[in-house]
Amino acid sequence: MPKKTVRHLDVSGKRVLLRADLNVTFVPGTTRIADDGRIRATLPTIDYLREQGAGIVLCSHLGRPKGRVVEEMRLAPVADRLTELMGRPVKYVKDCIGPEVEEAARELQPGEALLLENLRFHAGEEKNDSDFAGALASLADVYVDDAFGAAHRAHASIHAVTRFLPAAAGLRMARELEMLGKALDRPRRPLGAVMGGAKVSDKIAVLRNLVNRVDRLFIGGGMAATFLGAQGHETGLSPVEPDSFQTTLDILSDAAKRNARVFLPVDFVTAAAFQEDASAEIAPFDHVPPDSFIMDIGPETVESFRLGLNGCATVIWNGPMGVFEWDAFSTGTRAVAQAIASLEDATTVLGGGSTAEAVASLGLASRVSHVSTGGGASLELMEGKELPGVAVLPDEDDR
Ligand code: 3PG
Repeated sequence: MPKKTVRHLDVSGKRVLLRADLNVTFVPGTTRIADDGRIRATLPTIDYLREQGAGIVLCSHLGRPKGRVVEEMRLAPVADRLTELMGRPVKYVKDCIGPEVEEAARELQPGEALLLENLRFHAGEEKNDSDFAGALASLADVYVDDAFGAAHRAHASIHAVTRFLPAAAGLRMARELEMLGKALDRPRRPLGAVMGGAKVSDKIAVLRNLVNRVDRLFIGGGMAATFLGAQGHETGLSPVEPDSFQTTLDILSDAAKRNARVFLPVDFVTAAAFQEDASAEIAPFDHVPPDSFIMDIGPETVESFRLGLNGCATVIWNGPMGVFEWDAFSTGTRAVAQAIASLEDATTVLGGGSTAEAVASLGLASRVSHVSTGGGASLELMEGKELPGVAVLPDEDDR
């Protein structure tokens, strides 16, 4: 059942508490925002609220300050960036509750926006504390949650706050749920899932869930080493996770029972040192040199993945194929991104985190159907879990 969205609420002339995920990273040692994708993702909801004549009380966490004020985790640079993107001033207060904040919220005129300070400067946020949530709620008449990236956290500004105000999903939240929900629960078939990343243990719950849904499963990244190791192959110096051997074998046999095709790497790019400038060698999957690291999928694997992806009507991708941050080992990730981006008429849905980074750095984000803003949140959805921040929002047909 779709969630009630901001479009179902009467927000005109009201003050709206808008929870966003503005948890951006800064260029190390500076307050320069490294990637403003999450800020931009909130703009459609902000624009909608402004058009409706609502006063917007924006709030978010940033980093993990653990209940105390950390100067480097203030949201001031985010307020500046929002001001630039919106072309009008966004007010900013150096706390998120208390008399000064209440006054700033009261003074908001229709169409104006105020950004509160980092919610996690107060311990009540992560504790899902009712008093803290009540204090936030007292700033507004209505609550809108656009923070998909934090929907896996039962925190006060996401969960407890809904006890105090009429609530609805923001436009970004609604789109994330629609795109990920469709790909996972009602995909056009064939459905392909491309899974990568360093550790199989991070993705086991996702793989277990997806193997029962997909028609084609592609395994790349460092975690392919554990699949290889489980089958008794040499994996060189690459870390494997013996505790996950049995699970990887179970995943392969579950796929076989459903006639789902699994594409494992047939060759790799290897290197004698885990270094950016190490020289790249190609090795077949069953001849990885004992003194080498697996750094990327090899050219034959790229070709096999490309052919396997052809004809998929829906593709879900999570996790890079190799150490894509280093040029010499980015070819596999780049090629898979290009193969996915050039699928015609397919719905292509990418997880957040490093997959989103990889696609953005290749300039391909606009050529896929959806790039999630949620790393952990999109993974938990792919695991088949209900996210607390979503569960607590009313359904479309709730009164
Ligand atoms: C994220 O960056 O994945 C979200 O903003 C959640 O942040 P957290 O993992 O610190 O809760």
